[in-house]
Amino acid sequence: MKNKSPLPIYTSQSDPDGKLLAQPSDISIRKHKVNTQFARNVYIETYGCQMNVSDSELMAGILTQAGHHTVANIDEADVILLNTCAIRENAETKVINRLEHLNHRKRREGNLIIGVCGCMAQHLRDKLLEAAPYVDLVMGPDAYRNLPMALNAVASGDPFLGLQLDKSEDYADIAPIRKEGIRAWLTIQRGCDKMCTFCIVPFVRGRERSLPLKLLTDDVQRLVDEGFKEIVLLGQTVNSYHDGDNDFGELLWRIAEVDGVERVRFTSPHPADATDSMIDAMENCPQVCKQLHLPLQSGSTQVLQRMRRTYTAEQYRDLVSKIRDRIPQIAISTDVIVGFCEETEKDFKQTYNLMEEIRFDSAFMFKYSDRDGTLANKMLPDDVPEEEKARRLNEIISLQEKISGEINQSKIGTTVPVLVEGDSRRDSDQYHGKTDTFKTTVFPKDNAQVGDIVNVKIQSATAHTLIGDIVT
Ligand code: 5AD
Repeated sequence: MKNKSPLPIYTSQSDPDGKLLAQPSDISIRKHKVNTQFARNVYIETYGCQMNVSDSELMAGILTQAGHHTVANIDEADVILLNTCAIRENAETKVINRLEHLNHRKRREGNLIIGVCGCMAQHLRDKLLEAAPYVDLVMGPDAYRNLPMALNAVASGDPFLGLQLDKSEDYADIAPIRKEGIRAWLTIQRGCDKMCTFCIVPFVRGRERSLPLKLLTDDVQRLVDEGFKEIVLLGQTVNSYHDGDNDFGELLWRIAEVDGVERVRFTSPHPADATDSMIDAMENCPQVCKQLHLPLQSGSTQVLQRMRRTYTAEQYRDLVSKIRDRIPQIAISTDVIVGFCEETEKDFKQTYNLMEEIRFDSAFMFKYSDRDGTLANKMLPDDVPEEEKARRLNEIISLQEKISGEINQSKIGTTVPVLVEGDSRRDSDQYHGKTDTFKTTVFPKDNAQVGDIVNVKIQSATAHTLIGDIVT
């Protein structure tokens, strides 16, 4: 039975003027009331980047603090929250399909609560309820504090929208609940101020804010005490970190100094913020891994200008040379977009040639996806045909596979320290782990334990994996 009358949409207590909240709309929703019960079993399903993984841990912390339980088995859940991504269209399509599937269960069970959280929620706002009217809760990345309140509110049968962006929200006081393991993700910065024209992130995650250094080093001490060995610092442009007193290089040193930290990594830095302070810490601090993910996006200076990346292809090339001079063993990976607005064959060839010249260890490669609300969407034509985008993507994927394969082959015969992470997916007699340079390595267990750093002699390699044996 559909209700066509305007619905009250619950808003957040922490948004006194309500400016950025969706207004009540005439979206038709609600067929029944959800059972009210205090402690709920919540299953959180995460899509997209590591920042979302980290946000899901935060959501679990907020819910647990309020007396709810997070469950690992979706069948036990009476609340399912999808923590979503908006970066490319297919990320959103995937979630819409998943919602359709979950709605079958909701129809069967009646009292299942379905929530869409994160970037896609913030991007589509109340339009999400038009596409999926059975969704109970739509919540953006700065509104997670309201989750417990929202779960109570939706029990009355009305949907909850929490869509305020809040520059002061850093969740500094919330203890995330992490999966056990050896690697902990630590958000050091939220939001983004860069305004790359292709990117939806600043619009769905708001302005950049950094957490105070002292709070982060205390967090790291706790993580080490819990048994984590490797800390991965997260931020949209992680190396623009500045807490008012300390820059990113200083932060790397202070975190590495925490007693018991074996390894420190970070993702993703912006080339324009790759300062000497950052490079110094990478070069001289033994715990900081010799691995850098440095998004290039395009090898054409003209395209980079249209993307507002704030560097030229030459500056990027020089930066890589400088880093490699200082840290010869470093592994560098990247992100590349093909088929951005008005990208010509010549622009594309420049990207191809620069990738061939730089020889990245690995790359994430994408077809440009026009996103509603971005600067490119407003100002530039998405004029490279889909088949052409696909052709360009396939070309650079083949190139990169070849290069990654060759680089990995060159490691055969060398011995590399590997942090043991757990059983290999294919063979429980083998472990998998990562080298300092973030290469996945597989090897027989011997007597090693998860969390050990072992020396592995590489015997063979594919483009994605090193295979070897522990040596003493
Ligand atoms: N289309 C395609 N790829 C994109 N990325 C960001 N926005 C888009 C878009 N609109 C890619 C960039 C970024 C990575 C996380 O996702 O390469 O570095």
